[in-house]
Amino acid sequence: SSPTPACSPDGRDPAPSLLVRAARGEQVAHPPVWFMRQAGRSLPEYRALRVGTGMLESCRTPDLVTEITLQPVRRHGVDAAIFFSDIVVPLQAAGIDIEIVAGVGPVVASPVRSAADVEAMPRLSAEQIPDITESVQRLVCELDGVPLIGFAGAPYTLASYLIEGGPSKDHARTKALMHSDPATWHRLLSTLADISATFLLTQLAAGASAVQLFDSWAGGLSEADYRAFVLPHSQDVFAAIADYDVPKIHFGVGTGELLAAMRDAGASVVGVDWRTPLDEAARRIGGTVAVQGNLDPALLFADWHVVEREVRRIVSEGRRAPGHIFNLGHGVLPDTDPEMLTRVVELVHSL
Ligand code: CP3
Repeated sequence: SSPTPACSPDGRDPAPSLLVRAARGEQVAHPPVWFMRQAGRSLPEYRALRVGTGMLESCRTPDLVTEITLQPVRRHGVDAAIFFSDIVVPLQAAGIDIEIVAGVGPVVASPVRSAADVEAMPRLSAEQIPDITESVQRLVCELDGVPLIGFAGAPYTLASYLIEGGPSKDHARTKALMHSDPATWHRLLSTLADISATFLLTQLAAGASAVQLFDSWAGGLSEADYRAFVLPHSQDVFAAIADYDVPKIHFGVGTGELLAAMRDAGASVVGVDWRTPLDEAARRIGGTVAVQGNLDPALLFADWHVVEREVRRIVSEGRRAPGHIFNLGHGVLPDTDPEMLTRVVELVHSL
């Protein structure tokens, strides 16, 4: 039999990376830094590679996934790579008719709104995503010690796309189903928790060093509704990956009132947007988990002296938390000057 390559999953984190140490709350010289949506339209080399290939087709093509994931690591010198994929990839892989329309987002052919729709939902099996395993394995080799963050969409955010049929500001149909037909709601979320768990387990088994569960739109819920209708299902996702001793990041936008509840889902790092200072976020979370964030991505369009002041403030507020991973408060906006991101990385590394 062939010898185990150094980059096999068994070789994961021979010396724990800065990301892993910060997530554990260990003393580090400076916070690790990476950016949500660091791979994507802000990079001309990304736009060049994507010409002629649809978003979801790109996500299922290991040559493209590998190259696009590596681009921001090479360019910015970030402390982690985020797997190039999308939260709807496992839904499409399971057989749901869903597309990503450029400039719009995910669009679902037949929205899921009734008990019968939920009953008809397919499950995801690992055999349907061998390309994800291949892409992650290749990346772990190529990244040569830089940790790879795998991810999935959380059940609530996935449900919002399936029920609304596409992006939505108010999530009215989603909340209507949640409250009008709780049994159907819980069946849908538990199906989605299964799909998310399979997608995360595939990435972890292939060698991902950390994971992030994106519940981007959970911030639209009251804490009471979040705890009753969403938290148990996100808990199921984290429970499914509990055997992996890796940082488990949980992020949403506008979740200042939900930070402790999102920790309760089973996260070891809670992502925070720009609305809540990190020291205040740590206070609300209580306990010992680390925080991630939280530069407003819009401020990358301001003059450098503004960005510099904000980065210094965030790093100093992060020092009052039990561990800090520097990031934006949401994804890189498409028109961002990538030079700004490189300068932010250099600045965080110098502090
Ligand atoms: O660099 C990275 O962060 C990794 C790749 C990544 C993408 N999507 C690639 C992508 C990640 C982690 C995601 C997660 C994702 N996808 C979320 C959660 C994170 C968040 O932003 O809150 C959500 C809600 C989605 C759904 C989705 N996919 C949206 C809203 C959009 C944007 C639509 C648009 O064109 O503005 C997408 C498409 C998408 N996903 C792009 C990328 C790089 C843009 C596609 C393109 O380049 O044409």
